[in-house]
Formats: sequence, C-alpha cells, structure tokens
Amino acid sequence: GNPQAGLMFIGEGPGRDEDHQGRPFVGKAGELLEKMIAAIGLKREDVYIANVVKCRPPDNRTPTPQECGSCLGYLHRQIALIRPKVIVTLGATPLRELVGVGTGITRVRGQWQRLDTPAGAIPVMPTFHPAYVLRQYTQEVRRAVWEDLKAARKWAEDAAAGAAPAAP
Ligand code: URA
Repeated sequence: GNPQAGLMFIGEGPGRDEDHQGRPFVGKAGELLEKMIAAIGLKREDVYIANVVKCRPPDNRTPTPQECGSCLGYLHRQIALIRPKVIVTLGATPLRELVGVGTGITRVRGQWQRLDTPAGAIPVMPTFHPAYVLRQYTQEVRRAVWEDLKAARKWAEDAAAGAAPAAP
C-alpha cells in the first residue's frame, strides 16, 4: 500500500489468491474492494490495505483468536508506520481483534469507533467485508458500505487539513 495513505483498510486474512501472490485483496473480494474505493473517488494506490492474519488459514476458515493474536503485533507495527488518519475495518474479525468490539457487524457498521495507539487515537469506521457484499449484493448493503467509506474519506481529508474533531 501507499505509505503516505490517510486511509487504511484492514481485512481478515489472505485467501488462496492472496497467499499465492503475497498481496492482500487481489481475488474476487479485492476486485470489489477496489470498486468500493473507486466509488469514493480514490484508487487502490491512494490507500493502504492490510489483514489481521498474514498467513492463509486452512480452507479459508475464520482465523482463531490465537492465530489473530500471533499476528497482531505485525498489524500494530503497520499502523504505527503508516499512521493513517482513519482505519476502515472490513467485517467482524478486524473490529473484534483491533478495537475489541464484538457486536454484530450489521448493528455496529457505520458507527465510529476508536483505536488508542501510543501515537494517539485513530478513528475506526467499521463496515461490511467485501466478501459479504458479494454474497448480499443488494442496493441496501452496497449503499451502506458507500456511506461508510464516504464518511471515512471525509474524516481523513478533514484530519489532513487539521479540521477534524478529536477521534470519537
Ligand atoms: N479477504 C480478506 O479479509 N483479506 C484478503 O486479503 C482477501 C480476502
């Protein structure tokens, strides 16, 4: 990703295509993520994309809390190096592992959360995972993600201009 990115997206973990190429979100879910990013007027090159776990869990299963715990140090280091203005978590796993929020994603998406880091608080916008959007390809779900990403982009821009409020 872009080391200067104001927006950082965090997914769950690599699938088969990602494992193969050594890059996050390059398969079907990645295609949709790029479209979602384009829908708010940005390109993949403008943002930074990471995952909670860095290795593909067997059969694409959800990583266990222990597996997430083994990888979290890397993710925190990525966040410390990039220092994004806003983090967008994709689906339940990054929200739970990073922010400690285990509420259902349908209830919590679109509501600002915060991640406290040694360098300060970072606002976190939880939204649906693109793989979920692919399965639930309704106007309602797509609009929800679009609203979430628009809010994230605006906060990141305001923050870059020194006009954003303190993290929620
Ligand atoms: N799903 C994820 O959560 N991450 C990827 O990199 C690809 C699919």
